[in-house]
Amino acid sequence: MRRGTIVQLTLLALFFAGCATLVAVFVDWLPDPATREMGRITFVFWMATIISIAVFGVVTAVLVYSLWKFRAPPDDDSDGPPTHGHTKLEIWWTAIPAVLVTALAIASSIVLAKDDAIPRGALRVNVVAQQFAWSFGYPDLGDVSSSTLRVPKGRAIDLQIRSLDVLHSFWVPEFGQKQDAVPGQINHLKITPTRLGVYPVICTELCGLGHSVMRSAARVMTPAAFEAWIREQRQAAASGGGTAGKAVFLSNGCGGCHTLNAANARGNVGPDLDQLPQAAQKAGQPLETYIRESIVDPGKYIHPGFPDAMPRTYASLPKSQLDALVQYLVDASKKGG
Ligand code: CUA
Repeated sequence: MRRGTIVQLTLLALFFAGCATLVAVFVDWLPDPATREMGRITFVFWMATIISIAVFGVVTAVLVYSLWKFRAPPDDDSDGPPTHGHTKLEIWWTAIPAVLVTALAIASSIVLAKDDAIPRGALRVNVVAQQFAWSFGYPDLGDVSSSTLRVPKGRAIDLQIRSLDVLHSFWVPEFGQKQDAVPGQINHLKITPTRLGVYPVICTELCGLGHSVMRSAARVMTPAAFEAWIREQRQAAASGGGTAGKAVFLSNGCGGCHTLNAANARGNVGPDLDQLPQAAQKAGQPLETYIRESIVDPGKYIHPGFPDAMPRTYASLPKSQLDALVQYLVDASKKGG
């Protein structure tokens, strides 16, 4: 091959690789990692991207060079000269991709193994999905539960993901991985938060009418702030009283579908709970009876204008929690309505 050809091919390859690099760098393909696991995934992503850009540059350069240099004149209908391939070239273009793909496979396996390994002493967090809300519990830290996920920075966390009804899927883009929530089994997802902040928790498996609003938030806190929050939650749970019903409301994600001013809830899949007294009147039932029946047997009476979308899982709430929730809704709706 002539020297000039090599130079031209190299210049073309650099040009096309440069164009692809601009697309790779100036488009926000992935969010900034907030966990060590996502950091590793991002590394593999860039490794694959750099390899792809190099291959793209070379292939496009040869293609464009050939189209331009070896094109036939418009009136040339003759066959080209027969060719017999080029053994040396074929060995190279087989060997180089084989090495690149193997390198990617090795890097990916290491990242997968590291991301999935849950170390001894990881903080367990129960992640419970149900139509259409998330709730989070901390079995290692007393009877604390929350409708948002809070985790301390720097500690390995074992998210134990369950579903009470249908398939859901847990996803925080900044944490990198998705994990399905499957009824009857516990799926694990390990995270080691590295960056403070608030990130969206998204249900990423179509699960019914309220799927698109099945969202929450994940807050990565300093270990000290996290400890303080846990202490606060324990105190609130211990003091009981009016806060008990509110805690049940929040930890079961009622606000994902319902509006209730007292709980700062703005859902609109189901009826507005500030209007409960009016709804009970319409249904011809005493307020408390109406609320209790709507929770434990939601299919019996459907509030006009709303779909039959209330999950059937709340009948299994412990009696003390159910009583507290009903009382809370009676009080809150009288105030809010
Ligand atoms: Cu739960 Cu989509």
